[in-house]
Amino acid sequence: MAQLIDGKAISKQIKDELKEQVAELSAKGVKICLAVIQVGNDPASSVYVGNKKKACAYIGIDSLSYELPEETTEEELLELIDKLNKDDAVNGILVQLPVPKHIDEDKIIKAISPLKDVDGFHPMSVGALSIGQPGFVSCTPAGVIQLLKRSGIEIAGKECVVIGRSNIVGKPMAMLLLRENGTVTICHSKTKDLKEVCKRADILVVAIGRPKMIDASYIKEGATVIDVGIHRDENNKLCGDVDFESASKVAGAITPVPGGVGPMTIAMLMHNCVDSINIK
Ligand code: GUN
Repeated sequence: MAQLIDGKAISKQIKDELKEQVAELSAKGVKICLAVIQVGNDPASSVYVGNKKKACAYIGIDSLSYELPEETTEEELLELIDKLNKDDAVNGILVQLPVPKHIDEDKIIKAISPLKDVDGFHPMSVGALSIGQPGFVSCTPAGVIQLLKRSGIEIAGKECVVIGRSNIVGKPMAMLLLRENGTVTICHSKTKDLKEVCKRADILVVAIGRPKMIDASYIKEGATVIDVGIHRDENNKLCGDVDFESASKVAGAITPVPGGVGPMTIAMLMHNCVDSINIK
């Protein structure tokens, strides 16, 4: 059986390290504050936002909460972002996505100051990552790197295959693996012979958005498999993009769902909030 990569334990370890750093900063009079904005009341978003605020409280980061009605105009949201950009007491700004359809998501992402962009979604943050300059890194792929490093899995020189090319996960994931000196291939819906490409991977990161699609037949014996997906299966049980039961018989190491990548996203958001004091 594959080694289980325990995202719950690793995220706890990271949060505890951050808690200590925040206490040290606090003793020097440095406070960290995250502003969290939610427009409308999508139930899934409310759960995510609640978990982010809870993580802030655990670590000792102040959080400011803006729960705006569904009818909020783009202009009103931009005004709030502008106010928070100018507020020296605010270190990080997070607008929970998705925003209602009448608001242009790209415009909102661009309006957040790159110095406060703790999600790492601003084009400046994405650009900085791709040219190896300091900036905020998207939390889920940053969390995957931490899972690999803290599980003792070497990236340098390895064949890394990423399935999925989203701006939030696939693309930054590929850049981060490249930064760690992996040999990186990105696959997507038009990739020919997906299975053959996946079978080359020493490290396979799956962010495809289809429940249990990747089974043992896509995996090289002993490979590390990281599952970014999260879905409910036919029995209403949480599952990932990887068919865990089949894949775990071939993989050398694998993340479970839940308890793999999921908890890492918030841990890395907290990391970005603490890091915000260094980003100038
Ligand atoms: N919606 C789903 N995931 C995320 C995330 O990581 N950040 C934000 N802002 N919204 C999201």
